[in-house]
Amino acid sequence: MMLDSVVYRIPAVDLVTFCGVVAEDVLSPHGALLLSRDTDFAALSPSRRRGFAFSLRGAGVTSVAVRERPEVALQEILEVMARGKRPHDHKYRNLHHDAMYYLTGFCEKVLFGGPGNLQIFMLLRAGRMLAEAVAADPDIPMHLGYVLRKDDLLLSHSINVGLLSAFLAHRMFPDREMTAVSVAAGGLLHDLGKTYISEEILNKPGTLSGKEYEIMRRHPIIGEAALQKSGVVDAVVLKMVRNHHERLDGSGYPDGLAGEAIPKAARIAAVADVFDAVTSERAYKRRMSGRKGVSLLMDNIGTHLDSEVVGVFVGAFGMYPPGTGVVLSDGRSGVVTAPGERGVLRPRVLVQRGKNGEALSPAVFLDLSATPEVFIRGCTGEHVPEAI
Ligand SMILES: [Fe+2]
Ligand SMILES: [Fe+2]
Repeated sequence: MMLDSVVYRIPAVDLVTFCGVVAEDVLSPHGALLLSRDTDFAALSPSRRRGFAFSLRGAGVTSVAVRERPEVALQEILEVMARGKRPHDHKYRNLHHDAMYYLTGFCEKVLFGGPGNLQIFMLLRAGRMLAEAVAADPDIPMHLGYVLRKDDLLLSHSINVGLLSAFLAHRMFPDREMTAVSVAAGGLLHDLGKTYISEEILNKPGTLSGKEYEIMRRHPIIGEAALQKSGVVDAVVLKMVRNHHERLDGSGYPDGLAGEAIPKAARIAAVADVFDAVTSERAYKRRMSGRKGVSLLMDNIGTHLDSEVVGVFVGAFGMYPPGTGVVLSDGRSGVVTAPGERGVLRPRVLVQRGKNGEALSPAVFLDLSATPEVFIRGCTGEHVPEAI
């Protein structure tokens, strides 16, 4: 199903996060062209989108006729929203590419070069880059610079955990820029020790044997030792690498730390690590939807994960992350597109089907924050895409 024929109106203010195409010229009350037809918002930077939204509002324009990008199929939109990631966004693809460049360079230097200043520089550069991206764009969870390639799963996972950890640190410690830089670097490197473990064990489709599992469980200590050997002294980075598999109830590894004894930065890494791991495809498992990923985080509060960190995460993503299929109390159904203004339980929904299951054309946007009489009754099937 293609969406090129579906035209609908959105509030002008929603252009800030809109990624489709303008369907009709937008004119001011005096006839001046404010926004031309076919403008592709997916190609615009967040600041330019904000600029359009503000200028339209200033001119008294309250809504704009739009359509989805014609070459994008519905399934693709659902897949991208379901991941909360947008591979079509060049800005974030570049961020991913640059982070991968520095991280790869750093890892190679650590693996083969021994101690030195160059790798420390590369580490700080990569960490700072992610931290700055997070500070500049509070919507970063919706844009995780994610380009999944089968041959660099570990690097993609590392970058996602770095970005997500920086995002969480930025929200939890907004005044401590250096903390976010260190946490980003720690997230990037949390699984460095896995580069010393063979591919057969890392991507084994079946269950690991007892010996293989033991080898796998050594990766936090191996990673920490490699970093120390190459001169990394940042305590936040080292603790995230060593302790990101600790659990609140003390059942984790390698040190069996419990509760407050687990460094806060390691608790941040644990949440980012679990979420990215369960919502990503692996050779040995299917990925979980964003909604199920959030539920899993909440189920593990107190036993495995830190309640404050999960709270920050859920506050940002919502119980119904974008891409979640929902059934409304009036029988209509659709897909969540964005968090609502009145909390995580009342998001914005693209209503695609009517009360009797009939397809709606055009689909309509419904802001549950503004319609208190309608609520989410349940979730429909998960939109689980193949790897991008
Ligand atoms: Fe790990
Ligand atoms: Fe990990």
